[in-house]
Amino acid sequence: MPALPAIQEIPEMRAWSDRVRRSGKRIVMVPTMGFLHDGHLSLVRAGRQHGDCLVASIFANPTQFAPSEDFDSYPRDLERDVRLLAAEGVDLLFNPTAADMYPRGYQTYVDVEEVSRPLCGAHRPGHFRGVATVVLKLFNIVRPHVALFGLKDYQQVQVIRRMLLDLNLDVEIVACPTVREPDGVAMSSRNRYLGAAERAAAACLERALSKAQTLVRGGETRAANVRDAVVAEIRRQPLARIEYADLCDPDDLEPVSEIRGPTLLALCAWVGKARLIDNRILGVGQP
Ligand code: PAJ
Repeated sequence: MPALPAIQEIPEMRAWSDRVRRSGKRIVMVPTMGFLHDGHLSLVRAGRQHGDCLVASIFANPTQFAPSEDFDSYPRDLERDVRLLAAEGVDLLFNPTAADMYPRGYQTYVDVEEVSRPLCGAHRPGHFRGVATVVLKLFNIVRPHVALFGLKDYQQVQVIRRMLLDLNLDVEIVACPTVREPDGVAMSSRNRYLGAAERAAAACLERALSKAQTLVRGGETRAANVRDAVVAEIRRQPLARIEYADLCDPDDLEPVSEIRGPTLLALCAWVGKARLIDNRILGVGQP
């Protein structure tokens, strides 16, 4: 098994990046919170094509969890993660400590306004502020040319794109498709919270997305009708509780009432202790 070089200290990470940049190489970064699965690893694999040095970060970011959320129980297994990243040929792991990322007296946050408000933003106050803040910090430390993110967290990608534009950051973002289990369930570290019956129930999200796509392909254009069908599909599954099911513009995430072009259907449902999200772009010609 190849060894995986790792850096924990911020100054050391900056020095490494400076060296690599000076040598004219392109740095590719995949930020994660660890407990890696094939969704994360698909980003790592895709990352190879975008540059010369591949850095993965693992940092369970406390500022993106509300006090009532699962930060303390968020699954962690650094040894396993290191093995997986080494097997993928990652060049470097950056895994800073929370004490270094948020030292005493820390008080600066990035607030991306409109695009953070709907969907998950409406149910997880402060979440995207924590995400935007940590991603900007990670970018400032690692200084990647390119960073890869998963479309499973569609709103997160839009928040990060908006932040980069607004703050004139020179990082290219590559958004990658959602990796799913054979039954359609989107891979997520939080699937770990599901018991066997709950895990089977979780497939209702993807079924609801497919149903919506079938309706739209069949000519349905009223967002309310699509939404009703999605809600009905999820309600057939007694172990699932919907948090939101919304149709919106894929760029600014504003709600839409008529489906006239590509439209984002974003879903969130609780199954047991797991808060699951999934989404699909609806519209003729979309997969
Ligand atoms: P985390 O949930 O660990 O996810 C890290 C990256 O993997 C994100 O870009 C996420 O969208 C992607 N990902 C997760 N599940 C996926 C799947 N099934 N298919 C494809 N990609 C998937 O997202 C975060 O961490 C954090 O918010 C972070 C950006 C690291 C900031 O703390």
